[in-house]
Amino acid sequence: MSPSVFDPGLESITVAETELSDVDGEAGEIVVRGYPIEELAANATYEESVALLLDGDLPTADRLATIQPTLVDYRAIDDAVRALLDAAAGVGVAPMDALRMGVAAASLGTDADDSREAAKRVVAVVPTIVAAYWRYRQDESPVAPDPELSHAANYLYMLTGERPSDDAVRGIETYLTTVIDHGLNASTFTARTVVSTESDLVSAATAAVGALKGPLHGGAPGPVLDMLQSVHDSGDPEGYVRDRLDAGERLMGFGHRVYRVRDPRAAVLSAAARQFYAGTDDDGFYDTVEAFESVALDALADHKPDHRLATNVEFYTAALLHGVGIPRDLFTATFAIGRAGGWMAHCLEQLADNRLIRPVSTYVGETDRTWTPVDKR
Ligand code: ACO
Repeated sequence: MSPSVFDPGLESITVAETELSDVDGEAGEIVVRGYPIEELAANATYEESVALLLDGDLPTADRLATIQPTLVDYRAIDDAVRALLDAAAGVGVAPMDALRMGVAAASLGTDADDSREAAKRVVAVVPTIVAAYWRYRQDESPVAPDPELSHAANYLYMLTGERPSDDAVRGIETYLTTVIDHGLNASTFTARTVVSTESDLVSAATAAVGALKGPLHGGAPGPVLDMLQSVHDSGDPEGYVRDRLDAGERLMGFGHRVYRVRDPRAAVLSAAARQFYAGTDDDGFYDTVEAFESVALDALADHKPDHRLATNVEFYTAALLHGVGIPRDLFTATFAIGRAGGWMAHCLEQLADNRLIRPVSTYVGETDRTWTPVDKR
């Protein structure tokens, strides 16, 4: 066996070959199953994106007519899961913790051994869990899924109990496809690691939710919205940026581990947000968003000239999700709704040619110690 490489962030280690998505950080490009993300996000329904990831090709009309009803059938959660979510909301459990619990409980009464069915079940049920928990948190009853509505429209409907506008549906649809897959990000790697032990896909999704909630992964868009609202209120982006950078803080929504140019998802989501806000009376909020990006990029170029800090996906995620009416506290859970498709496709890909993922560690602890009885320590 060749000597192992020490790389704590695993940046230099390749542990999977994937046909699902390709991320080019220098060029600023994402390709999903061969399609540029810009093209997919502008055209696909979320159901089409899921079918593309799970099957390999865009679905024919016949294939869509099969997968759509399956996803609709799998949307429901049973009374036991609802009771858990009600109890969690009652004691103020955070949304991602409630989602983790709800996903874990979603295997109740299902055949966890059938991986392809489990994949569709997880994708279908995540929005229902998020929305039911949110309704309980507002002291309202959950809204049952509407089988007539698409995945994206039904999520908005279950949150509010009202049929969403076409513009809002298109906005959320664009978002869900934009974030559906992104190489071997931390939560996707987590999911693949779980199924590599021949555990089940619900367990993989539960672990992936836990990985996604961290602020270094999916937890950034809430703070981005706080920043944008603060600047919108003050009308002073230059002052805000100067104060943060002078205090040694980071500007949320800028910089990325992989991208050295503007995250291509920021371009997709900024176009979607611009289009959405153009149809609303937004009190100039979207103008603030664009003005802030420009001020922040100039300031970051002066602040860290060697680092090429650019706008990342979370900056326009906050603007778009806020616009379409997603509550700030649900931004990361909404990310999970989109990413669930990628998690499940990666699990199936892992299982198709599985090798247990099991890296090694280098022992740097004490050596040559001898046992001391408890009364002598
Ligand atoms: N604002 C100000 N300075 C920054 C920022 C920022 N947003 N991002 C990086 N820097 C600075 C760092 O302070 C560091 O300076 P130093 O070398 O003098 O210490 C330098 O640029 C490089 O930073 P690293 O942490 O090495 O960059 P890395 O690529 O590891 O970090 C990260 C990427 C975590 C995203 C970082 O840019 C950041 O914290 N951004 C703000 C939070 C954010 O937007 N997170 C969402 C990321 S998108 C996603 O994960 C889905």
